[in-house]
Amino acid sequence: MSKPQLLIFDTTLRDGEQSPGAAMTREEKLRIARQLERMRVDVIEAGFAAASPGDFEAIRAIAETIKDATVCSLARANENDVRRAGEAIRPAARGRIHTFIATSPIHMEKKLRMKPDDVVAAAVQAVKWAREYTDDVEFSAEDAVRSEFSFLCRIFDAVIKAGATTINVPDTVGYSIPSEWGARMRALIENVPDADKVIWSTHCHNDLGLAVANSLAAVMNGARQVECTINGLGERAGNAALEEVVMAVKTRKDLFPVETRIDTTQILAASRLVSQITGYVVQPNKAIVGANAFAHESGIHQDGVLKHRETYEIMRAEDVGWHANRISLGKLSGRNAFKTKLAELGIQLDSEEALNAAFARFKELADKKREIFDEDLHAIVSDEMVTPEVEHYKLVSSRFHSETGEAPSAELTLAVGGVEKRAQATGSGPVDACFRAIEAVVGSGAELLLYSVNAITTGTDAQGEVTVRLAKDGRIVNGQGADTDIIVASAKAYLNALNKLHAGAFRLNPQL
Ligand code: KIV
Ligand code: ZN
Repeated sequence: MSKPQLLIFDTTLRDGEQSPGAAMTREEKLRIARQLERMRVDVIEAGFAAASPGDFEAIRAIAETIKDATVCSLARANENDVRRAGEAIRPAARGRIHTFIATSPIHMEKKLRMKPDDVVAAAVQAVKWAREYTDDVEFSAEDAVRSEFSFLCRIFDAVIKAGATTINVPDTVGYSIPSEWGARMRALIENVPDADKVIWSTHCHNDLGLAVANSLAAVMNGARQVECTINGLGERAGNAALEEVVMAVKTRKDLFPVETRIDTTQILAASRLVSQITGYVVQPNKAIVGANAFAHESGIHQDGVLKHRETYEIMRAEDVGWHANRISLGKLSGRNAFKTKLAELGIQLDSEEALNAAFARFKELADKKREIFDEDLHAIVSDEMVTPEVEHYKLVSSRFHSETGEAPSAELTLAVGGVEKRAQATGSGPVDACFRAIEAVVGSGAELLLYSVNAITTGTDAQGEVTVRLAKDGRIVNGQGADTDIIVASAKAYLNALNKLHAGAFRLNPQL
């Protein structure tokens, strides 16, 4: 690497998870963490250890698994939070504690009800506790955007002396604009003593749609770490989108004084995985990862691209993982070809049993669908990555009937803890009938918060990927299912969500 490195700190599993309904199970977090590692992010913020035992366990599992990225836990500036974070990251090859406290007058007075002197003392103490566990300690001044400049300099000076190695400057409420944010970063670096001994970081929210622009302005002015999330997921309007930050720095290397070590060809797979797990669909016109990001509609543009790609394209679709719906495998492909293709796509199944099950699903799909694309394979393995012991409810068979002028009906056979049960129901549509039939057997009483269908590839024989979000007793889970029959995909997604509720594989939304 010839230029200084810009560190990419991914907080999809922490700030991203603070998006309403985006709570993830431990296994889901692990899958995303593995993809982030494959993409070569530098730091994975795996969660907020003190938020819940589930969060703690997920961070620990990620710390045990991930070898090529630093694994980080968030902690408020109090002893319990810092020690929980320290315990959670203990198994990590490289572990970081990220402690924070609010520094703006409004937050200190109205939320913390603390005097500025006490806020500085709490921050210093938190950093010292954190240093008992690791020498990689990050400090964030929450709501830095509305904090007094002189107070920021004072608290940063104090935490650097206490042992903080990364100083993060967050625009917690997404209030800044690029010129102001860049100037603030530069002024901090120029005024805080020993600024050259730490890494300066930026963390921007997207309330005004400026998170990426503000982050890049900070980079132009000395920030060497950007905190971001896949698809820009995050609290309220979200965080800076990792894929946009990384591709801006790469595409405009003529302007940026830094480079990242991200393997950009893994970006699309990461985007799809996060979207599928959280149920947050990516808008078609989203930069880099939206379905239309590299599509040319107007005749003039198509003509230009055919003659010379760079007339209308500033990036290569392949560089971010688009394979232009490349046909992957066919009906006659064998188990070995299937396994090799999964490895090529960076998909790792945990056991031979999971591989066999995924291969059986592939054969079943190849019978229904002429061409199997990479996207189909991602969906197949997602289905098979449901841990078998969690599958208390399973779809055995289904029959749906829909006729003009008649109420659609669903007849289902489910296996419940291995025992087959049948149910029949009508509904306002076939999906409604299907969910009613499942509830007639299961009687979960869960509330349906979200139902979304996404065609995985083009064509009427495409698989539909369904996400169902259920809530029960304050617990929220997302279930996924894929099939060429979208009613079957819906049933699978609903059962997947019920299985998570049943197994207790859920967590409460974190409360910061
Ligand atoms: O937005 C924010 O201020 C945060 C901090 C905890 C870094 O997420
Ligand atoms: Zn944030």
